[in-house]
Amino acid sequence: MTEDQALQEIKRLSEEINYHNHLYYQEDRSEISDYDFDQLLKRLIQLEQQFPQYKFEDSPSQRVGGTITKNFKTVVHQYPMLSLGNTYSKEELIEWDERVKKGLGTEDYQYFCELKFDGTALSLTYEKGILKRAVTRGDGTQGDDVSANAKTIRSIPLKVNQKVPSKFEVRGEVFFPKKEFERVNAERLENGDDPLANPRNAGSGTLKMQDSSIVASRKLDCYLYYLLGDNLDFNTHSGSIEKITEWGFNVSPTHRKCNNIEEVLEYISEWETRRHDLPSETDGVVIKLDNLDQQNELGFTAKSPRWAISYKYKAESASTLLDSITYQVGRTGAVTPVANLKPVILAGTTVKRASLHNANEIARLDLRIGDTVFVEKGGEIIPKITGVNLDQRPADSQPVEYLKECPECGSALIRKEGEAIHYCPNTDGCAPQILGRIEHFIQRKAMDIDSLGAETIRGLLDNKLISDYAGLYQLTYEQLNGLEFKSFSEKKGDYSVRSLRKKSATNIINAIEESKKVPFERVLFALGIRYVGQTVAEKLAIHFKNIEALSRSTQEELVNVPEIGERIAESVVDFFSTEKNTALVERLKSSGLNFEIEEVQVETEGNNLADKTFVISGVFSQFSRDELKEKIKLNGGKVVSSISSKLDFLVAGDKMGPAKLEKANKLKIQIISEDEFIQMIKV
Ligand code: IVH
Repeated sequence: MTEDQALQEIKRLSEEINYHNHLYYQEDRSEISDYDFDQLLKRLIQLEQQFPQYKFEDSPSQRVGGTITKNFKTVVHQYPMLSLGNTYSKEELIEWDERVKKGLGTEDYQYFCELKFDGTALSLTYEKGILKRAVTRGDGTQGDDVSANAKTIRSIPLKVNQKVPSKFEVRGEVFFPKKEFERVNAERLENGDDPLANPRNAGSGTLKMQDSSIVASRKLDCYLYYLLGDNLDFNTHSGSIEKITEWGFNVSPTHRKCNNIEEVLEYISEWETRRHDLPSETDGVVIKLDNLDQQNELGFTAKSPRWAISYKYKAESASTLLDSITYQVGRTGAVTPVANLKPVILAGTTVKRASLHNANEIARLDLRIGDTVFVEKGGEIIPKITGVNLDQRPADSQPVEYLKECPECGSALIRKEGEAIHYCPNTDGCAPQILGRIEHFIQRKAMDIDSLGAETIRGLLDNKLISDYAGLYQLTYEQLNGLEFKSFSEKKGDYSVRSLRKKSATNIINAIEESKKVPFERVLFALGIRYVGQTVAEKLAIHFKNIEALSRSTQEELVNVPEIGERIAESVVDFFSTEKNTALVERLKSSGLNFEIEEVQVETEGNNLADKTFVISGVFSQFSRDELKEKIKLNGGKVVSSISSKLDFLVAGDKMGPAKLEKANKLKIQIISEDEFIQMIKV
């Protein structure tokens, strides 16, 4: 491909990607599949790596991240980022309105009401329509330049394709969408990581991460609510909000113009409950004087504008009695404590239970049975205990002693050093673990046999028709038809015996047969290897291509696979070194399940690095470490983890360890920089 062809192709791809982004984020619809979209992006990134001179600052490839920022640059705000005066009381709000009226000396003014989004404030500067800088609030006077991270937020335009002032700033709030927060946390739990505490902190933490590709994977979003600039020609705040909406900025459609304070109060009441249905968390309402001349007339105090105020909804918390703590055992044997509370109404729903995470959390709160505790609903669906009312603690209360034995099978619980969670080690004999593994296996994302419900599985186990998931493939229609199982009725609050009908039996048999077509990566996920979630399973399947190669792989080979860390590697090695597990896999194999990847598309970019081995060390400016590893492989090279005399090259980034450098020098290994590496892969 010539340079000119590359440029044309880069332009064409960028336009196409921008078009689909626009449809998706501004018009809420799409014309292509996620897969096809990813392919377009991938192609663009490839070309930009090959022709870095055509990597433009508004390229949509920046959405996927990859830049590492070690220290964020401090930037002084052109206009300070002030805070807002706030109140929790409607009386005070009415008093504020009186002051506004007096200050202006007229009753002719309007308000503009917006929700107060609970996230992290961000300021975006555009010059000639191109996003130049994204800066956090910091101390209000100066903040951090988080541009690389902000560019991964798809709803933030990298370029505004309309007639806009030559320079302007828009401000808004970055947030972790509630749904996305739940998705990330479910994935973290699956991988054995601690869940993120709440959307707000997780959002601000994410925005300050060094590796922008992690930021990209978290799909943050941003609502804009403020336009600033010199010589902008707008008379009202509402007018400027309308304009930035037209320019393609993501403005929450929840705002409303109000003619007087009564209408403001109505807006406040209306959104008190409706706000819970929004994608972002909110903690109040911001009321702004709409006319900009009138705003100037009132001006600012040292900290905040006189022309705006925030009304905050009271935190939804309640206090209630802690009745008991019970413990649940999951499929991996992980034990989770649950607080059972005296039922209390919180934010419109009755709360009876709260999650306690682990033993450390109980100790941190110094919880005791009989305590009066405060419960709050944060971004999470499950409420949490935020503290104890010590004034009401019974005199004879004792600290909670954490459970020592499994509540299901009585085995002594274990806790690995450095881990917060207790485990029941009785993998084969502990009912919820056996059941949990089968439930995991049949779920839609895995083998997709979910016509088999938990109660039927229990029936199969109770009747000794199966003892593990491999047993499913020996089941016959005759065994299933009429199978008796216990079913729990919410209404009666008790179990009754039911039996499986013909139709259900046929459906289950068909689904089991059908599941033999499920691709290898999903079968691998279905096996339920600890820390091997969906994404990890995919990575492993693509890398090793079949189960034999994976089961023979060593710890060292595993950690060399992009995104596979020590803990996952250890767990995989552990799984395949247990005879019982390899026997299980053998049985599945003879039942005809897929244990190798279909039509492997081996991608290559070139063969310049054929048979050469590389160690990479340190931090790089143009690639993330994983990208660099991928690049080496795409060009025919091999990545190894330790330096030996057989090694060909050490690619040295910033901050590489001195020990590695010394060893490489001693063995006379050729040390190359990132730029030299890029030269090597060029044709
Ligand atoms: S306007 C000078 N509007 O609340 C007024 N702020 O307590 C500038 N916030 O730093 C702010 N939603 O981070 C404004 N609709 C909204 C807002 C909002 C959330 C945040 C913002 C600001 C803080 C002030």
